[in-house]
Amino acid sequence: MATNATPFPHRISTKDQYFEAWKMAHDKPQEFWGDIAGSYQWMKPWQKVQSGDFNDLDIKWFEGATLNITANCLDRHLEERGDKTAVIWEANDPKEAPITYTYKELHAEVCRFANVLKDRGVKKGDRVVFYMSMVPELLTGVLACARIGAIHSVVFGGFSAQALAGRIQDCEASMVITCDEAYRGNKTIPLKAITDEALESCTTVKDVLVRKRTGGSITMKEGRDHDLLPMIEKASSDCAPEEMQAEDPLFILYTSGSTGKPKGLMHTTAGYMVWAGYTFNNVFQMDEEDIYWCTADIGWITGHSYITYGPLLNGATTLMFEGVPTYPDAGRFWEVVDKFKVTHFYTAPTAIRALQAMDIELVRKHDLSSLKVLGSVGEPINEEAWEWYNKEVGKERCPIVDTWWQTETGGIMITSLAGVTESVPAHATYPMPGVNTDLVDNEGNIIEGNPAEGNLCVHNPWPGMARTIWGNHERYKETYFTTYPGKYFTGDGARRDNEGRYRITGRVDDVINVSGHRIGTAEVEDAINEHPSVVESAVVGFPHDIKGQGIYAYVICQPGVEKTAEELKPELNEIINKVIGPIAKPDVIQPVSGLPKTRSGKIMRRILRKIAAKDLKDLGDTSTLLNPEIVDEIKKGAGL
Ligand code: PRX
Repeated sequence: MATNATPFPHRISTKDQYFEAWKMAHDKPQEFWGDIAGSYQWMKPWQKVQSGDFNDLDIKWFEGATLNITANCLDRHLEERGDKTAVIWEANDPKEAPITYTYKELHAEVCRFANVLKDRGVKKGDRVVFYMSMVPELLTGVLACARIGAIHSVVFGGFSAQALAGRIQDCEASMVITCDEAYRGNKTIPLKAITDEALESCTTVKDVLVRKRTGGSITMKEGRDHDLLPMIEKASSDCAPEEMQAEDPLFILYTSGSTGKPKGLMHTTAGYMVWAGYTFNNVFQMDEEDIYWCTADIGWITGHSYITYGPLLNGATTLMFEGVPTYPDAGRFWEVVDKFKVTHFYTAPTAIRALQAMDIELVRKHDLSSLKVLGSVGEPINEEAWEWYNKEVGKERCPIVDTWWQTETGGIMITSLAGVTESVPAHATYPMPGVNTDLVDNEGNIIEGNPAEGNLCVHNPWPGMARTIWGNHERYKETYFTTYPGKYFTGDGARRDNEGRYRITGRVDDVINVSGHRIGTAEVEDAINEHPSVVESAVVGFPHDIKGQGIYAYVICQPGVEKTAEELKPELNEIINKVIGPIAKPDVIQPVSGLPKTRSGKIMRRILRKIAAKDLKDLGDTSTLLNPEIVDEIKKGAGL
């Protein structure tokens, strides 16, 4: 097996090669993935490339092999590109000097951090929760966990104390790593204070490491809380990578679904590595000297796979940005592109739409000629935003990769390959090799032929797929594999054109996608229902010009409580901030006296979605409802 880092092995360079690779992966998956995995560094070889299927759901990739993913992200590159920049860190404030790490420096830093974890008693298999802003130690800390075999779980810094506590409790973390405060544009977020509040209800956490960032005032609990940076500085830069089994957990990442509490999706080591590495290599088609920037936060899957693991597995230079697109002004993204001569830029449609709405001079005054490839991720990109991105940012010379994937899939699933297969406005286009997609109708019948429209499923295991929901394998089976037995159901709807290219139309379940953030309507309803005057609520998504989808909440108050939307808003926002975090605040609140229900008591969300969208066409037959009269009242209340 090859052990050195040949630049970009298994790179698909032509459209024909793409079709050949797809066919090979389809016909002979074991050989295909065995070959690709051969270019990584393994401690012991595998006995079997893949076993298990969507019926037994005991899926394993590269079983028997041992490895460490950080040896593949770092050590493997030292000889050939030790002095190459691995990470560029750009601060929230453009006046603050950026920090860069070469591969050698990053290796040393990760080892030092790993030794800090070891010194605090963190062992293989322990869970470490990160609740940080985008400081360099979020990236090095995640890798430090992987170095010693601890399982990282990053919680986005916008979640509330209660949401953080729920995640810490669910994975029984022994350590939390946080910052004193986060910089976010011209605001600061008191991460340590929120952590303190969360920890009041968490019994498993022994240590809290605090990365001081703003110098703001915080309380340090004697014996539990430790100042991180001096510990890293003192630690040895020598830390051998832990030998991990292929299927040992690498990380847990929580995401919202259509029901219940957020689910901790568990990703394992070898398959995730191969998938993140292979997809990054082929989707972005980077050259050795290119500079790649993904604007996501490491708190989401995009930041795991395409800021951290994917780029580093490929020996790329990855830029990490602490700030927001609108600070100090809405030209910040373009300023950063210009400053570092970014060649590959990967962002979310919501950011594109927000920046599109600003003065065009904020884009045009910056030199964007370094750009070669643009990417989009997180939600459907509408044609208008796609065209603007193509024209104003890419100057009509940069291929756009519209990459469809999910926390569950570990890496990109449907996309064009930059400059290799064609970009089509608003279309993710082709499945990656190894992804066998079906469109099915609501009864689960496969819709054959093109064009077609239906529910998007995948019918084969792929290396990067999440293996389970932490602590609840039954829920994993139930959520993803029972709607259409034998298939992974994505929760998304899609259309396929005559060429077999996919266009994702959005979620078909009770998940809404607000500014690229996945929000379960049930979670928001549960929070709203905590209000003492609220009897019941129903939350749906509606089209929103900038956010993609907005949150629309229909709220029933107790008899005798006459509250207007304006009165309810601050009260409900306060609860939602406390239970979930500001990202889940409703855009519209409508007090109602009842909700449209079927005779079996089920809320007819379809009707509520139509009213929220101010689209009264095809409202359907409402006469069979238990309470048909309510529809007119709700329409009237919505000003329709
Ligand atoms: O609805 C799809 C949408 O985002 C969902 C996954 O969200 P999450 O797990 O948070 O991961 C986001 C980053 C990968 C999907 O079910 N989505 C993601 N990418 C696209 C998309 N919808 C349309 N086009 C995309 N490119």
